[in-house]
Amino acid sequence: MSKILVTGGAGFIGSNFVHYLMDNTDHEVTVLDSLTYAGNKASLVDLPSNRFTFVHGDIRDAELVDELFRKNDTVVHYAAESHNDNSLDNPRPFLETNIIGTYTLLEAARKYDTRLHHISTDEVYGDLELDDPERFSESTPYNPSSPYSSTKAGSDLLVRAWVRSFGVRATISNCSNNYGPYQHVEKFIPRQITNVIRGVRPKLYGAGENVRDWIHADDHSSAVMTIVDKGVLGETYLIGADGEKNNKDVVELILTTMGQPADAYDHVTDRPGHDLRYAIDSTKLRTELGWKPTHADFESGIAATIDWYKANEAWWAPTKDATEAFYASKGQ
Ligand code: NAD
Ligand code: TYD
Repeated sequence: MSKILVTGGAGFIGSNFVHYLMDNTDHEVTVLDSLTYAGNKASLVDLPSNRFTFVHGDIRDAELVDELFRKNDTVVHYAAESHNDNSLDNPRPFLETNIIGTYTLLEAARKYDTRLHHISTDEVYGDLELDDPERFSESTPYNPSSPYSSTKAGSDLLVRAWVRSFGVRATISNCSNNYGPYQHVEKFIPRQITNVIRGVRPKLYGAGENVRDWIHADDHSSAVMTIVDKGVLGETYLIGADGEKNNKDVVELILTTMGQPADAYDHVTDRPGHDLRYAIDSTKLRTELGWKPTHADFESGIAATIDWYKANEAWWAPTKDATEAFYASKGQ
């Protein structure tokens, strides 16, 4: 049993990871989260108080970070500004949290020789053509497109430099697009599900041909735990579940699963610099560490996610109007 600090544990993927740890391990878990607009304590209710502690604070607060690193053996770092559309509107918080925040954690890991796992995204690799037979692998050159992905790329490079220069015991994972419960309604899948629940037509950027490689958040969690347990220090692992779909197909699946005509959506203003396609080759993680995803069926994963949003309107309703007002101001 060990003591694990989870940064950003009140966000989408971090909270799914905390639930995964509670259900599948006996580790003691502390969450450090500053509860930005994206953090929600309601994602962390009913957890056993003997194994779970919530600390409200910022990863840039070096004194607080020092104290928490002193008390924990392992840190899994999810905290980030995570939404591309917000990064196009106001990049500064992305530099502050993703770069300075990660630097602050690295300095504490260096001081206490803490085992650190850094969570990142496949978006650091830029995008692929629709017909490119290649997928991203650990050797793909970094080529980020947006303020979000460039600050995540910067944070990955900081981790690599702290490993090489100071011997920090870290690993990195770059995962594809996640879906599942507790995802903020600003993101593509929950935005469309909650629109349909409210009788509003889904909004597709541009023609909807852009491809994302979907993975269930639970599979991301099991992959991260595999890397924390068995990963080789200093290494990077790509996480993906062979889930490539274009956005139009995803919207149509959501609509038909919710009993609506497949074409009951609107095309809206495209995202500037919109990455065309992401696709992950996760052979290294599968062959070297023996991981495999268990949520192979996207259709049933989406149906379960729709059921979750229907059953948990109190969780998402408080953020829905402000999110839609932001999009409406940009014609999206
Ligand atoms: P999210 O926006 O839902 O959650 C981020 C969390 O971090 C929130 O709880 C927020 O309050 C917290 N946070 C933000 N700034 C902070 C700060 N300065 N100090 C402390 N806490 C802070 O994000 P997510 O979608 O759960 O993503 C989590 C991580 O996974 C990110 O690092 C992201 O880059 C990565 N990732 C996400 C996806 C995806 O599909 N969402 C895919 C691959 C990788
Ligand atoms: P998003 O969930 O923002 O994730 P990311 O930008 O990290 O891939 O968007 C997923 C895809 O869906 C992306 O191609 C943009 C598109 N999209 C829409 O078509 N409509 C929407 O309302 C949103 C939020 C996204």
